[in-house]
Amino acid sequence: MKILIIGSGGREYAIALKLKEEKKVEKLYFAPGNGATSKIGENVSIYDYDELAKFAIKQEITLTIVGPEAPLSNGIVDVFKSNGLNIFGPSKSAARLEASKTYMKEFLAKNNIKTAKFLNTDSKQEAFKFIDSLKTPIVVKADGLCAGKGVVIAKDYAQAKDAVSEMLDGSSFGDAGKRVVIEEFLDGFELSFFAICDGKNFVSLPVAQDHKRLLDGDLGPNTGGMGAYAPSPLASKELIRCIENDIVKPTLKGMQDENAPFCGVLFVGVMVVNNEPYVLEFNVRFGDPECEVIMPLIDGDLSEILLNASCGKLQDVKLKDKYAVGVVIASKDYPYKKSPKQKINVKNIPQNSQLIYAGVCEQNGEIYADSGRVLVCVGLGDDIATAKQNAYELCQNVEFEGMQYRKDIAWQVLK
Ligand code: AMP
Ligand code: GLY
Repeated sequence: MKILIIGSGGREYAIALKLKEEKKVEKLYFAPGNGATSKIGENVSIYDYDELAKFAIKQEITLTIVGPEAPLSNGIVDVFKSNGLNIFGPSKSAARLEASKTYMKEFLAKNNIKTAKFLNTDSKQEAFKFIDSLKTPIVVKADGLCAGKGVVIAKDYAQAKDAVSEMLDGSSFGDAGKRVVIEEFLDGFELSFFAICDGKNFVSLPVAQDHKRLLDGDLGPNTGGMGAYAPSPLASKELIRCIENDIVKPTLKGMQDENAPFCGVLFVGVMVVNNEPYVLEFNVRFGDPECEVIMPLIDGDLSEILLNASCGKLQDVKLKDKYAVGVVIASKDYPYKKSPKQKINVKNIPQNSQLIYAGVCEQNGEIYADSGRVLVCVGLGDDIATAKQNAYELCQNVEFEGMQYRKDIAWQVLK
């Protein structure tokens, strides 16, 4: 089987490492890939979806797997399917669960799925009225995409109103802040829940926990994610059943009712409040870095699982009885600005660990850190403490100038 992976990050590299182990997988292509994926497959520089579909037909690609959100929201799945190709991911219409916060919130309300109370508006007056109806703290978000920086958790009414005024007046986030979403604050802990869906049915994957802040102790700015571990003992069997029954099932049913059946990975950003799961957000793809810790826990053939799901024939997923911890190594100025390229030195990759390449490029056969989140050091073990130890041992075996990483990944369960 030949497989095309869309994307260029650590998530796509981790999917590829898993596929590389499988006998049926003959060759991997990446569009566009990164400086390290070219060492485990072939990078393809085609960005137009019609051209990419032609390439897939010509190369006799059996399955295409889409990593990031943007191509999904831009309709890559619709283009491939109209060319008779197998592709794993949701249609443009189903991808609205992630692409539009307003659509997502209205969908949740319609299907009686628990989420924070909210208002989406461009009117300051309406916003202030809604703020006055909530308890503090209050969450204020810019409606557009602002790379995870558009969320203000206001301690009091005045701060919430100031945040709204700054956003609506265009001074904080430009056009992305021309509409605001105001939400009730949910006080609990977050989990990343993943389900592989075939439009009607789903199978759940190990529940992960991300670490969004840059610094130890969950301090500093929000990032794309600085580390993850799975499965999280914080997700009890009962809680998982609740997420499946009260969130995932009604979501799949609701999407069928909207004529947008959801096929692909449904990623529920869950906030657990008093043992009850609330939807913080939906994503329509694997999380990054969550994917990096979930892939090594899958026992069966991922190629078969995703191919069958893409054809509406979901199968069960076998899991290893192991834990994985992933530590993201970012470049010096992440998440503020791009950092200069730096050569990466890898001493060796000890047993029970995997080195995942994300923001890297290749120069003269060598791999360079190319800013952002550069590497993910994944450790495996029979318990979380051992997995963590293996992940950090790998961190000490890699080196590039200015590298930074958190030292406390999985602190939530290793207190
Ligand atoms: P978002 O950009 O909507 O994914 O939000 C980013 C982060 O802000 C989330 O991962 C949460 O940690 C926090 N957050 C967002 N909405 C809420 C809420 N309603 N209550 C508490 N925390 C929130
Ligand atoms: N790690 C969170 C995300 O991929 O959005």
